[in-house]
Amino acid sequence: MAAHLRFWWGHLALLAVLISGANAAVYTAVPQSTAVLKGSTVIIPCSFSGLSGSDVVVWAGPPNFRTIATGRTVFKSYRRHRVVGDVSRGEFNLEIRRVTLEDGGGYRCTASSADASDDATVTVIDPMPGPPELTGGEYPVTAGSELMLRCRSRGGHPVPTLSWYNGTHLQKSTNVKLDVDGGRVSANLAISRLEKWDNGVNMTCVADQGFPKLVQPRAASRTIRVNYPPSVLVPEPSVHIIEGASANLTCAVDSNPSAIVSWRRHGDPLPLKGIESGQSFLLSKVSRHDAGVYQCTADNSVSPPGYGTVTLDVLYPPWIDPAMDEKVTVLNAQDDFTLECLAEGKPKPTVKWRRKDTSLYWENPLRFHRVRYDVQGTYECIAISQGFKEVKRQTFIDVVGKPHIRGSASTTATVARGGAIRLVCDVVADPLPNRVKWVLRNNQGIEEDLSSVDEDVEIIETKSDQEMSSSITVKNVGSDREGTYLCKGTNMFGTSHREIQVDLTAASPQPMTIIVVSVLAVVVLVAMLTLSFIIAVRKGWICDQKFSDPAGTPRTTRPMPPAPKYAKKTRTGTNDSGVEDLMELQELDGTLKPRPPPRADKEWTSVGLSYPGLVHSSSLPPYSTVERDRPDGEDTRPPSRIIEEDWQAVMEPPVPPPKDGARRLLRKDIARLDVVDERQPGSCEIF
Ligand SMILES: *[C@@H]1O[C@H](CO)[C@@H](O)[C@H](O)[C@H]1NC(C)=O
Ligand SMILES: *[C@@H]1O[C@H](CO)[C@@H](O)[C@H](O)[C@H]1NC(C)=O
Ligand SMILES: *[C@@H]1O[C@H](CO)[C@@H](O)[C@H](O)[C@H]1NC(C)=O
Repeated sequence: MAAHLRFWWGHLALLAVLISGANAAVYTAVPQSTAVLKGSTVIIPCSFSGLSGSDVVVWAGPPNFRTIATGRTVFKSYRRHRVVGDVSRGEFNLEIRRVTLEDGGGYRCTASSADASDDATVTVIDPMPGPPELTGGEYPVTAGSELMLRCRSRGGHPVPTLSWYNGTHLQKSTNVKLDVDGGRVSANLAISRLEKWDNGVNMTCVADQGFPKLVQPRAASRTIRVNYPPSVLVPEPSVHIIEGASANLTCAVDSNPSAIVSWRRHGDPLPLKGIESGQSFLLSKVSRHDAGVYQCTADNSVSPPGYGTVTLDVLYPPWIDPAMDEKVTVLNAQDDFTLECLAEGKPKPTVKWRRKDTSLYWENPLRFHRVRYDVQGTYECIAISQGFKEVKRQTFIDVVGKPHIRGSASTTATVARGGAIRLVCDVVADPLPNRVKWVLRNNQGIEEDLSSVDEDVEIIETKSDQEMSSSITVKNVGSDREGTYLCKGTNMFGTSHREIQVDLTAASPQPMTIIVVSVLAVVVLVAMLTLSFIIAVRKGWICDQKFSDPAGTPRTTRPMPPAPKYAKKTRTGTNDSGVEDLMELQELDGTLKPRPPPRADKEWTSVGLSYPGLVHSSSLPPYSTVERDRPDGEDTRPPSRIIEEDWQAVMEPPVPPPKDGARRLLRKDIARLDVVDERQPGSCEIF
């Protein structure tokens, strides 16, 4: 009833203003929309000018613009409301104390004669009691799985808006689902597949009521924990360590939670001697046996485990097998002799051979196509690895074998009746014969040993390590000293000989000349023995070109004289006195074995060359057995030489080969034959 009355009063006042027309009231302050915290005091302004006595100012408000006050009078039911302000200045401000949520709504302030103004809205804010509630993601999640994060507001007025942030980035709204329910709002964020890099991401839900000046947005955060399997990165996949140093093998592991790293070596079931230290494996004193491929396994119970491999390369200096023989004995004329130097090291050493104190180098294995006496010497195996000092080891190659007489096997010479002749034999052998034996076989085939006991015969012998030279000078050569002169060298391996057929010419010597020249010959003979081979070769000592070698051309075969008529026995299948000698020895020993066919001489061509097909020295049998199987000697003599039956008679018992130290290196063969014919001094450069 009262409300109804008030309504009509209002309309009457308005009507009065409209009728009065000319003196209408005008707003000087219009009610403004405002937000206010619940419980606080708000004053909504409203003032006019030109109010007439008939004007009535009316306040209406929620709900539905009910009249709150007319003039300065507030209806009794509005205990917290007052109309305040200076009346003289037309102020009719509405004050509301201890604002409640019901006070929120539209307010209207009118005067009868004033035009109506816009309504003002008062928003009453009840702040949220706390940050939003978060559920989901409390525990670590395995990579690859999905995660639902739920954010729910705790109340407050007005209802907040919720938004999700990834770090500081607003999460796309497509992933966020909003849901209002009983004054509470929730926003669900679905992450379909968590990756390992989502580990540690700070996800934040922000609840905002929209009035930042009065109430701050509230936020709740969750740090996502993602468990992911180990992934292994090897920073140094190949480690090179010098033996004796320490090694640090490392596998860098990325995992959550942290993984345990264990190590093993490929193909090695045994526990390792190193120390596992975190992601590293430490070996304190690395030996060459520690080299290999090491595998690390990182396990954090999130499958699959992670693996990595580190190759450990252990470097060590070159090393030559100490079992390599310090001395190797090899038979003269043996074919294909090889000597291998077994060397190792890391990196793999290059191995070479060098003849000691020379700059002659050979590849390993050292190989000789055919062994000769001048092969004898000290050889050095040299192993070189990058980054290390070179290593050497010496081997002495001792060449033993049957005597070898230099020059062609047979030759001829002539001397004037009553003159003198000098013949020389150079013998190379190991062991050396005790002496060189000279034998004269006269034209009747009767043999006679020649010795210095005979005053017309002088034999001079010189010896060095592996070589000896014997010269015989025969004076007063008559028909009894005509025939074939043989020089023979014999050692335990057999006998070699050389034949010189001496023929007489008719000329008769002057006695004085013989004496003078003989004395002279002896003097020169002694001097000659001291002369070097070079002079000998150069001079050739040629006295009669019928039987001597062409100057300075060793090993030259010459036309052979006809076979002597005293030949008694011819052995078939042999064309080489060396072979015969060997036969004799074999027969003596009772160990005759089939012989290989004679073969042509080969040049010794090992210097600076290499040969494939390696044989280690240890595979060589001792020379005493090699000897019986050895191929024949290196001579390439004309065939059909006749060998006497009594070779056995001149054989000396075998003497053990000397095993003493290094011997002098021999020069290459130099054919040497000296024949002195005193009747023809003009044809001899020396006498
Ligand atoms: C968060 O943002 C980072 C970078 O923008 C992105 O890599 C990652 O996947 C995001 N994580 C989630 C859970 O959305
Ligand atoms: C997450 O981010 C929010 C807002 O950026 C920050 O207030 C909060 O401290 C962060 N939490 C963590 C654990 O870093
Ligand atoms: C081994 O190497 C790793 C990575 O280089 C390093 O972190 C670690 O400290 C090293 N360990 C030792 C004992 O040197």
